[in-house]
Amino acid sequence: MSSVWSSPNPLLFGRGKAGETGNELRKLGCKKALVVFDRGVESAGIAGRVIAVIEAAGVSVVAFNEVQADPPDWSVEAAGALGAAEGVDCVVGVGGGSSIDTAKAAKLLITNPPPLKQYYGRDGVVTKPSVPLIVIPTTAGTGSECTPGGVITDTERGIKTNIAGVGCSVTLGIVDPELTYGLPKAVTASTGMDALCHCIESYTSARANPFSGVAGREGIDLVAKYLVRACEDGSDAQAREGMMLASSLGGIAMSGALCHLSHDIGRSLGAKFHVPHGNGCAACLPQVLWAVAPVKTAQVRYFAESFGETLAPDDPADEVGLAAYRAARELMARIGLPNMKALGLDRAQLLSAVPDEVVMQCEMAARAGFVTSPVPVSRELIADIVSRAYDEN
Ligand SMILES: [Fe+2]
Repeated sequence: MSSVWSSPNPLLFGRGKAGETGNELRKLGCKKALVVFDRGVESAGIAGRVIAVIEAAGVSVVAFNEVQADPPDWSVEAAGALGAAEGVDCVVGVGGGSSIDTAKAAKLLITNPPPLKQYYGRDGVVTKPSVPLIVIPTTAGTGSECTPGGVITDTERGIKTNIAGVGCSVTLGIVDPELTYGLPKAVTASTGMDALCHCIESYTSARANPFSGVAGREGIDLVAKYLVRACEDGSDAQAREGMMLASSLGGIAMSGALCHLSHDIGRSLGAKFHVPHGNGCAACLPQVLWAVAPVKTAQVRYFAESFGETLAPDDPADEVGLAAYRAARELMARIGLPNMKALGLDRAQLLSAVPDEVVMQCEMAARAGFVTSPVPVSRELIADIVSRAYDEN
């Protein structure tokens, strides 16, 4: 067997742990922090609370509150320039995936000169070590507190790309479920489906490995148990904790195995039609499960049975695929996830853009040695998945 296993960085997990951020920075010897967040995290009062505990520990703060969704290169370069100009000795990212990815890029740019584009790519990109980075997720979905890189929008080419390497690595993730108590149902649903897609896609990836199996299966079970509860009652502490754990497990699962078709389609929906990441990745999940069931039957069966489907031991792959398809659709209905029509998408526009984009991305990844889809990717397959998802979900 040949595979890639990524061990996660240390995580401090538990209710109230965000209150220890200042002490953790002091343990790292830090004196001046660049704290990176967006206006939503700021208006929810979370950024202010984190800044207060950092300052109470005697660490001064330079705030960057201009994080953009699907962070574009120019925005993360502004964060890095601020950190470099202020001479910070650490970075703290507070928020969803966009804030954490911006913080990773800002860290990278403190010891690696701009422009950021010279560091794009997953493999073979050499970056210099940088200052410590603490990331504090405020949603249960991205898992990026456990992943070794970040996703940045390359505005020159109009695509999403990756940064990786020691220059942007996470020093410590502080995972505090209490930070998600105030999230609205729609955000809980969308980010929760992102976590689920990380778990099931990495579990069924062509690059799947024992780590992605263990973490992916556990994450699937947690989402099956807690996502509906977290959506129905945002103050359900046990459900929030379970979803936060599922999110981190999803990050661990995908670190080496990577995601495949649901995320490939989701990235295209995000780049071309500005669909929120979790909604885009989940939009075709039932059809993707059905498509990969013939080659990943045991894994798709695990998913279906975790969500309450009953299957006989000798049920064929198409029955297994249908059970998983039903389970995913039922979950999406129960949590009120908007389908592609409700997201305002047009069928013809989707079909003219998404299949070509996904095939191109998969071909580029394959040339770089990253084949993740367990089934051959063709324009016809993606068009079938997308058109069925549009009509059926
Ligand atoms: Fe994702």
